[in-house]
Amino acid sequence: MPLLENETVVTIPSIKEKKKVKEKIVMVTAYDYPSAKIADEAGVDIILVGDSLGMAVQGNEDTLSVSLDEIIYHTKIVSRGVKRAIVVSDMPFLSYHISLSESIKNCGRCIKEGKAKAVKIEGAQKRCDLIKTLVENDIPVMGHLGLTPQSIYKFGGYKVQGKDEIGREKLIDDALQLQDAGVFSIVLECIPLEVAKEITDKVSVPTIGIGAGPFCDGQVLVFHDLLGISEKPYPKFVKAYKNLREEIFDGISMFAKEVRDGTFPSDGNSYHYSKKKAKRK
Ligand code: KIV
Repeated sequence: MPLLENETVVTIPSIKEKKKVKEKIVMVTAYDYPSAKIADEAGVDIILVGDSLGMAVQGNEDTLSVSLDEIIYHTKIVSRGVKRAIVVSDMPFLSYHISLSESIKNCGRCIKEGKAKAVKIEGAQKRCDLIKTLVENDIPVMGHLGLTPQSIYKFGGYKVQGKDEIGREKLIDDALQLQDAGVFSIVLECIPLEVAKEITDKVSVPTIGIGAGPFCDGQVLVFHDLLGISEKPYPKFVKAYKNLREEIFDGISMFAKEVRDGTFPSDGNSYHYSKKKAKRK
């Protein structure tokens, strides 16, 4: 359970504080009301409405086709289920690239319409002006470095980043720039654990790892991966704590069997006609 006393609601300052008191930060993605409500009740600190929506929920090959309206819609229904955690909207591809004013408007829509408490933006140096402006205008920003999925075509696929000296130096420099631009935390995705440790030790804001080893200040996994709903094979960094895919398959198969053999609905699942006269209103 959380170490910070009296933390009935997680806040941006309390997320930063967790790094200081060495309390690990727990983040999961969620895309709808029931999953967000369960994650919140289970005590996670941050719920990310990730653009992994495109793959986990929409069945696409990548995250690039997710639209701003879709992220806002999913943020809205997630926020409705959350009382304690911070809800973060993941800004989709091309929603923060075109102009500063359009980017601010798009991020603002996630807060105003989606009721998110913060936004997440992939990348570093090119995004720092935007991040500074958002933070100055009271929109908290989470950074995202390493294997940023919106750049997979530039990277040539889902490849671990920062494996050589140039890559390592760039990641450290990027993380420091994000810190100076004012992010409240940084996601580190698919980078060597040694590099993630170096960044975590150097920056004052919390790092949240996914495929970045155990030394980050927190960890994030995609809801459908950690519960074993996604189709296998999983990337090496995923740990599936449950096999819900099998559970759901079994449940639906049992329903289909009982409908076909007439066991469902039973008398207990049915209503009876009563001859009693209905009272007139
Ligand atoms: O979209 C997403 O789910 C993410 C996390 C994996 C960090 O960006």
